[in-house]
Amino acid sequence: MDSPLERRLQKELEQRRKDNLLRTLKVAGSCRLNLSSNDYLQLRTDPGVVAGARQALERYGAGSGASPLLYGYLPCHEQLLDALLQWKRKPAGLVFNTGFMANQAVLKHLPGPKDLVLVDKLIHHSVIQAILQGKADYKRYSHLDLGHLEELLEKNKSAYETVFVVTESVFSMDGDYPDLKALVELKQRFGFVLVLDEAHGTGVFGPTGGGLAEETGVLDHVDILVGTLGKALASMGAYVLTASQTVIDHLVNHAGELIYSTYLAPACAGAASAAIGRVQSLHTERQRLRKNAAWFRDELVKGGWTTNAFDSQIVPVIVGDPDRALALRDRLLEKGLLAGAVRPPTVPPNSSRLRLSFHSGITQDHLHELLELLNACRTV
Ligand SMILES: Cc1ncc(COP(=O)(O)O)c(C=O)c1O
Repeated sequence: MDSPLERRLQKELEQRRKDNLLRTLKVAGSCRLNLSSNDYLQLRTDPGVVAGARQALERYGAGSGASPLLYGYLPCHEQLLDALLQWKRKPAGLVFNTGFMANQAVLKHLPGPKDLVLVDKLIHHSVIQAILQGKADYKRYSHLDLGHLEELLEKNKSAYETVFVVTESVFSMDGDYPDLKALVELKQRFGFVLVLDEAHGTGVFGPTGGGLAEETGVLDHVDILVGTLGKALASMGAYVLTASQTVIDHLVNHAGELIYSTYLAPACAGAASAAIGRVQSLHTERQRLRKNAAWFRDELVKGGWTTNAFDSQIVPVIVGDPDRALALRDRLLEKGLLAGAVRPPTVPPNSSRLRLSFHSGITQDHLHELLELLNACRTV
C-alpha cells in the first residue's frame, strides 16, 4: 500500500527509529529472572489464585457475555467488589475492565466545566489522556512538590466550584511517592477531592497490603481510590472505591468505559478475589521485598548509578540516553535477566532508564548477581 496515510505513518516511525525511541512488540521469552513484571508478590502462579480463576471459569464460563448493564455483571464480580470494599474500607465502588479505563472514567466524567483538576506532573498517561478529553481546566504541579500544589490551590481556590487533586501513590516509573499525610493536611485546609491511584502501592505497602494510604493511615481521607487488579493482585481489571454512592451512580450512568464494553472475564474476577485473600497475609514477603529493594538502591548509589532515595519495590536506574538504556537491557538479557528499558515519551527527555521491578521471589544471590552485572557495564 502506498498512500498518503502510509507515507505519513512511515515517516513518523522513521523519526522514532532515528531517535532510538522506536517501540516494538516482542513475545516475552523465557528468562532466569524477571525484573520487569508487576507481579510483585508472585501470585500469578499461586495455586490458590489459579484455583480461584478456575472455579469462576467453570461456574460462569469463559466470558461475561455482555456489558455490565446488560447482565454481564455476574455474582463473581459482585463478590470481588465486596472483597475490595471490605479490604479498603470504602462503602461504594465499581469494578472496571482495566486501570486505564477506570482512570479514564473517573477523570473524564466526574470533573465538570466549572472545576479544576490539579495533577502531579508525572501522573500516568491514562489520567492525562482523560483530563485532556474532559470538561474541566487542569494544571500540573511539579512532581511530588506539595509546596507547588499549595501555591496552585491558594491561587485558584475561589475561581472554581470543585478542585480535584490527582496523584499516584507509588509512581510507576520512579517508585517514589508523595507525602500523603501532608497532602491530606492540604486537603483539610483547601477542601479538594483527593483521587489516589494505588496501582503500585497495593500489595506492597500497608500492614495488609492495602497500599500507601493504608500504610500512612490516611485511607479514610482518600475520596476516590483507584487501583488495578493487574499488578500485585495478579489478574486483570480495576476498581474505583469511594464513600459516595452518588459518584458510583454517576459513573454507572455516564462512563462509556463501563457501559459500552464487555465486562471482565469471570476467571479474572475469581483470580483477583483469591489474590485479595492471599495478599493480606503476605506481610513477611512484603517486608523482605522492600528490604531487598532498599539494599539494592544503596548499592546502586555506592556504584555511582543514579536512582532515587525512596523505599519501594520499583527501582529506576537512570542513565539519560535511550541508546544506553537499550544497551544495558540487552546486556542483562544476554545473561537471562529481563528488565524494561523505558524511554521518552513514557519518561521525561534525558531520563531514559532501566526500570527494575522487584518481586518477592528475588533472593540476595539474585541481587548480588544483578549488581555485579550492572557494575561491569558502567561504561556501556
Ligand atoms: C499508575 C498506573 N495507573 C493505571 C495503570 C493502568 O492499569 P491497567 O494495567 O490495569 O490498565 C497503570 C499500569 O500501567 C499504572 O501504572
